[in-house]
Amino acid sequence: MIKLAIVVGARPQFIKLSPVLEAFSGQADLILIHTGQHYDFEMSDIFFNQLGLRSPDYHLGIGAMTNAGQTGAMLTALDKVFRKEKPGMVIVTGDTNSTLAGALASAQNRIPLAHIEAGLRARDKFLPEQINRVLTDHLADILCCPTQVAIDNLKSEGIYEGINLTGDVLYDIIRKFMPDEKKSQEILAIFGLKRGYYIYLTAHRAENVDDPRFLRHLIDVLANIEIPIFFPIHPRTLKSLSANKLDDKITSLPNIITSKPIGIIESLAISQSALGIITDSGGLQREAAYFGKKTYLLRDETEWVELEQGGIVECIGRDINRTDFNWAGRFALPIDYFKSASKEIAKLILESPLKA
Ligand code: UD1
Repeated sequence: MIKLAIVVGARPQFIKLSPVLEAFSGQADLILIHTGQHYDFEMSDIFFNQLGLRSPDYHLGIGAMTNAGQTGAMLTALDKVFRKEKPGMVIVTGDTNSTLAGALASAQNRIPLAHIEAGLRARDKFLPEQINRVLTDHLADILCCPTQVAIDNLKSEGIYEGINLTGDVLYDIIRKFMPDEKKSQEILAIFGLKRGYYIYLTAHRAENVDDPRFLRHLIDVLANIEIPIFFPIHPRTLKSLSANKLDDKITSLPNIITSKPIGIIESLAISQSALGIITDSGGLQREAAYFGKKTYLLRDETEWVELEQGGIVECIGRDINRTDFNWAGRFALPIDYFKSASKEIAKLILESPLKA
């Protein structure tokens, strides 16, 4: 049986782990490695509990640092694990520092690499996620692309080998863990939310929330929205709000309901029942698309180009260059956009002739 090492470390990676682990069940010897990038209960353990994930075989304990420092520390620690375990292939997902560290450590040990969510691109070459995904894709042997645009991006960079259109693992998660009507109602009740009568807001990207001008501007915009806004606050955002003495200001807005970061089951219930969504998250854009909810993106661009073309996502920029939100609309997405991915990914990896 092939030995596979899966490297995870950040919230979106824990979320996507469940259907991937299930797809390999009984067909591979899986070594699960948690880098420690996200460590708060609400950023890590909650997902292992909710999704019934097994405990990692290795927890590297590498928490908050600079991007370069964190990637370097993870690289050293993963190198040790790979030398000891000698996996036949390494699997990484997404575009975090844990992704890049996993990719570099596998390449330095001449271990083939599979990248889930390959081919996504932004224009800004210094965006940390862009650095992580470009370098990872150029080291990967099996590139699992969620969309045709991702495939085209890889080809335009000269990558032709190992490319596969697998679909998006997130949709496996939504189908598997969407709470039923009763549970959804309970979740809304916990936060005092009324179905169809609130906006779901998240903001966590470094280039946004580390900038006090963005936070001030966001608060001004929120103050002009009349209906309730549900805002679970990411630790990075909370830190920046506090450092800029804006935490009291945002929580004192009469229409805002804040909370700690929430689990995926809560997030699914809350996005399904929202009037609309304001976010800078990649994952929430796709949840929103699944539920047909209009999304205003706090960025100038999206890697999920199909969502913008289908009209469901509108980029309003870091300067939040519009305030006349229109939550109604019908959206046209490609017919196979919500394709299930995990089984396809497992098949590709298990049938691959590549092995260390
Ligand atoms: C990381 C990913 C980003 C992803 C996001 C999902 C990179 C470069 N960025 O961003 O692509 O969308 O995760 O959430 O990998 N912190 C805590 N507790 C935690 C985790 C973080 O307090 O459990 C604080 C720390 O102060 C840390 C800061 O949040 O410095 C940022 O965390 P970090 O993992 O560096 O980046 P994210 O902004 O979470």
